[in-house]
Amino acid sequence: MSTRFLERRATLVDLHPVAADMQRLVVEGLSRVPKQLPAWFLYDAEGSRLFEAICRQPEYRLTAIETALLRQEAAAIAAAMGPGVPIEFGAGSARKVSPLLEALAPPAYVALDISASHLAEACEALQSRHPALGVLGICCDYSQLQTLPAHPLLEGQRRLGFYPGSSLGNFDPPQARALLSQFARLLAPNGCLLIGIDQPRQVASLEAAYNDRAGFSAAFASNLLVRLNRDLNGSFDPGAFSYRARWQEPQGRIEMALVSQGRQRVAVAGQDWSFAAGEALITEYSYKYAPEAFTTLAAEAGWRAVGRWSDPDAHFSLHLLEPRP
Ligand code: AVJ
Repeated sequence: MSTRFLERRATLVDLHPVAADMQRLVVEGLSRVPKQLPAWFLYDAEGSRLFEAICRQPEYRLTAIETALLRQEAAAIAAAMGPGVPIEFGAGSARKVSPLLEALAPPAYVALDISASHLAEACEALQSRHPALGVLGICCDYSQLQTLPAHPLLEGQRRLGFYPGSSLGNFDPPQARALLSQFARLLAPNGCLLIGIDQPRQVASLEAAYNDRAGFSAAFASNLLVRLNRDLNGSFDPGAFSYRARWQEPQGRIEMALVSQGRQRVAVAGQDWSFAAGEALITEYSYKYAPEAFTTLAAEAGWRAVGRWSDPDAHFSLHLLEPRP
């Protein structure tokens, strides 16, 4: 672990999540049938930038809907959450939390993210917008985090978990349950969790969200191969794979994949891998949950739903969860 004091006194704690076991996870993921890598691999510095661009595409809608909902309902949400320190899992640019910070006026804010450079920038920008706020960034894989590092900004504070963007959708239901249980432990004993969840809707509108016309979804997936080439000595030709995103009905998820255009062999992570023509490398899933399905899942992980805010079209919900007694 290393600690850096950023410009204007934001603090960054780096748990060095990436170096830890990327090589092992790539060998594991490419040995699977079908081949699949953890979604967090998509978020190197360039991937984090491309994801921000996806969020601005007209087809994606999720971010715009959630942002508007947070802005409109911030006062009600803050009142329901009560006082404490917001802790955001996968904070990205840390812009979504602004209306909550204004409504809660907390003493501090904690941002967790996998991309160190992106997190440092986000914390510095947030600190300059809120000079009096204590800002702590923790660079980590939040799905593997067992405890939050001790820090004066967290001492004696209720922990208000914030997990926007329907990021839970990247995990399959058993993993999602495990992650929600882990958040319950991290936020214990008297914390709460505000979580954004995207709902199933018309297939055409869902598929369009992951196939934007400007091509940012495809570029985001393809950047994974560039990253593997750079970080794990890979020989991928990104041009030899095409991007595909499709709704899978029984599972209730979007599957995003890079499909090999022909038979090919690729070296990465110290091994040779073969791809058949048409073979997919799954880059991520995006599960969607109807509100009742989500609250059932959350209940299985020790949470009870105490509040819900949805957009007028009921495409997206913010759920407030508290530990089940
Ligand atoms: C960050 C997982 C919520 O599934 O909608 C968007 C990721 N990937 N477009 C999503 C994503 C391609 C996003 N999550």
